This record gives sequence, structure tokens and C-alpha cells, in this order.
Amino acid sequence: MSKMIKGFSKFSKAEKIDWLAENFFYEKDKGIATLEQYCNKNTELQQLHDEFIENTISNFYVPYAIAPNFLINGKIYAIPMAIEESSVVAAAALTAKFWSSRGGFKAHVVSTTKVGQVHFTYDGNKEALEQYFSSVKSNLIHATDHITANMRKRGGGIVDIELRDRTDALEHYYQLHVTFETGDSMGANFINSCLEAIADFFQKEGIFVVMSILSNYVPQCLVRAEVTCKVEEFFPENAEMYARKFIQAIEIAKVEPYRAVTHNKGIMNGIDAVVLATGNDFRAVAAGAHAYACKDGRYKSLTEAELIDGVFTFSIEIPLSLGTVGGLTKLHPLAKLSMEILQNPTAAELMQIVAVAGLAQNFAALRALTTTGIQQGHMKMHLMNILNQLEANVHEKELISDAFKGKTVSHSGIAEFLHLIRTGH
Ligand code: MEV
Repeated sequence: MSKMIKGFSKFSKAEKIDWLAENFFYEKDKGIATLEQYCNKNTELQQLHDEFIENTISNFYVPYAIAPNFLINGKIYAIPMAIEESSVVAAAALTAKFWSSRGGFKAHVVSTTKVGQVHFTYDGNKEALEQYFSSVKSNLIHATDHITANMRKRGGGIVDIELRDRTDALEHYYQLHVTFETGDSMGANFINSCLEAIADFFQKEGIFVVMSILSNYVPQCLVRAEVTCKVEEFFPENAEMYARKFIQAIEIAKVEPYRAVTHNKGIMNGIDAVVLATGNDFRAVAAGAHAYACKDGRYKSLTEAELIDGVFTFSIEIPLSLGTVGGLTKLHPLAKLSMEILQNPTAAELMQIVAVAGLAQNFAALRALTTTGIQQGHMKMHLMNILNQLEANVHEKELISDAFKGKTVSHSGIAEFLHLIRTGH
């Protein structure tokens, strides 16, 4: 067998694994056993997962955890998070508790409009194109009637279609810029189907459709979340100094892209974890969020903070295209359960919850960075990973966890201590 393969997708799962083992595994039996270990014993459930994508050979676990005590718009939430990074859920839970005794999080959806585009080239007369567009615009909308019928019943559908001249940026390049409301669904398939129907109808001699696709840039599908407290409630001592330092950290992330990317990455730790746990598309959300961070011409912080008249306010504004129906949201049993845990939110409510998770994560990171430093909390949570890597047993884990309570954790420090326990020197 060779490392190049033809017709792989037609192989049975066992054949795929055999080929893989033969060509890539260091220890065939061990590799196969690992894949099998991560397959679900329930064949129906495993088949469901197998069929999400092509060429599935096993499952890749990510921990699924709960950050409780989030008070959002007066309602209490336990937020499910799917993430592998040690300190994220602990940070979320701590922040939720902190703000629950300070009025909680306030969030609202600013707008819910999504965008799709038919990209085409046209080298004829612009006025003739505009006239053609005006004459067929309502037909373009009607060409999607069979697709939009159900969505329209739920209050969604096509909001508008605009002809956009982008020949300033690229020769002969125009777009049909289509706006949509998609209710409680993320709407990717709905939008793409509508766009393809619109493109089919619009196409005629001289118009060359390049592609039709939704945009993951959704600045009009926007949510805002904030927390606020009297400055003296911000920190047990030197509260105003720490609040100012916190604000300064955000000001830095507004002007310095190297810092802004890490700052926003921390926000996405919270956002992506909830997006993934609810079966939504975290890549779409991440792409849209980072693009929004550039909306003023430079990549910068997605959060803001201010101290006015002794009141500290910390907020986030972020585009989030999410669904609570459709996609994997009801199909993946854990995503479905996440919705239940979140008390079956509408898409708008989910946007608020997710924005809060991002804000909370950024709060935890900035508070740690501007006070104790990040490593104390991070390494504390990472301790178990180090112990597992060093194959510590339960007793050794207990001894080391006790010994390192309140102390700085490092890989070499733990390794030395473990050696001492095991060998006595
Ligand atoms: C680590 O995953 C995230 C942080 O780096 C975020 C930040 O620096 O703001 C802690």
C-alpha cells in the first residue's frame, strides 16, 4: 500500500483504518485500539457522528463543562462550554460569581440581519445593468419563493437585494448584495440556496456569475453585553488603581495589534466554547468577530471599558450569527442538551449568552494580567495535564496538588517533586 490513495471515501471504516495503520501508525495495534477506544459503543449514536462528515474513523473528544451562576438580564444561566484549554471554564465560573453579586450582565441584540452575495462580472454599460436589475428585482425575490415560504411564516426571509458596483476595486466586478432575516436558524443553507436561485434567474448574456455565497461577516447581526459596578466594588483594595490599570490594558489592545489579537483570542476562548457546545459554527463566528475587530481600519479590541463618575463599565459589541434550530443544534445530542441547559433560548437570547461568555473570559484574563499575572491561575489549572503527562497515580496527584497549593506551578518543578516522591531523592 502507498501513502497516496484513490477512492478512499468508498472504503469501509475498517478498510480506512487498516490503510492508515499500515501506512502511518508507529504501532499498528496500539493506534487501532486508540481509535476504537474513542468510538461510541452505541452503534446508532456512532453512526450519527460518522455521518456528520466524510471518512470518519473515530471521535475526537473535547471536554464538555458547565460554568454556572451567570446572571444575564435578571435570569440565571448555567453555561455549557466545550473546550480543551485548562483555565477557561474555571475563569468563566469565577467571573460569573463575581458579577452575580454586582447586578449581573446586561445584554441586548442590536440587529439580526445577515448577508449573502452573488458575485458577478459585467463589462457592458452600467446604466443598462441598473435598468435590468430594477426590472427583475421583484422577480429575483419571487424566484426564491419556494425556498423562503417557511422562513417567511416565521417572520424571516429576504430583506432586500441591492446591486453594488465594485468596479472601483476590481475591473468589471459587481454584486447582488442580499440581506436576510433568518429567525432562530443560523441560516447558512437557507441563504446559499436563495442566492443560487437568485443568481440563476439574474444570469443573462453579458453577466458572468462567478459565485454565490453567504458572508460570515455580519456586522448587522450584532449583540452588546456589559457589566457595571461602583469602582470601589471592582477590587478589594486599591480598587480605582486596578480599574484604571484594567482600562489601560484595553486601551493598549485598541492601539497595538500584537496585543489586540491575544486580547481577542481570550474573548474567543469563551465565545467559541459556547458556540461549539451548542452545535453552532465556531469558525464562522471567529472569522466574523476578527473581521469586525478591523472595522475601523485597524485590528483592535472587541471590548471597551470606562470609569466615569466612580462607575466602572466594561462592555463588548460583537457580531454573532447563531442558530437554535437547524444545523447540528438538534441533531447532536449534546448540542440539544446544551439548549435544554440554556432553557431553550431563541437565537437572539443565545447571542446574548455567547457575548456574555466572551466578555466574562476577557474580564478574567485582564483581571489576572493586571493583578497576579496569568500564569498563577493558568498553571494551577494546567497541573492535572502535567501530572497526567508524567503518568502520576492518584496518590501522587493528591500529594503534589497539596504541596503546590498557592505555589507557582511549573513543569520542571512538578517533575522534580514527582521524582522525589518516587525515589526519595
Ligand atoms: C489564553 O488562552 C488567553 C489569554 O492570553 C488572553 C489575554 O491575554 O487577554 C490569557
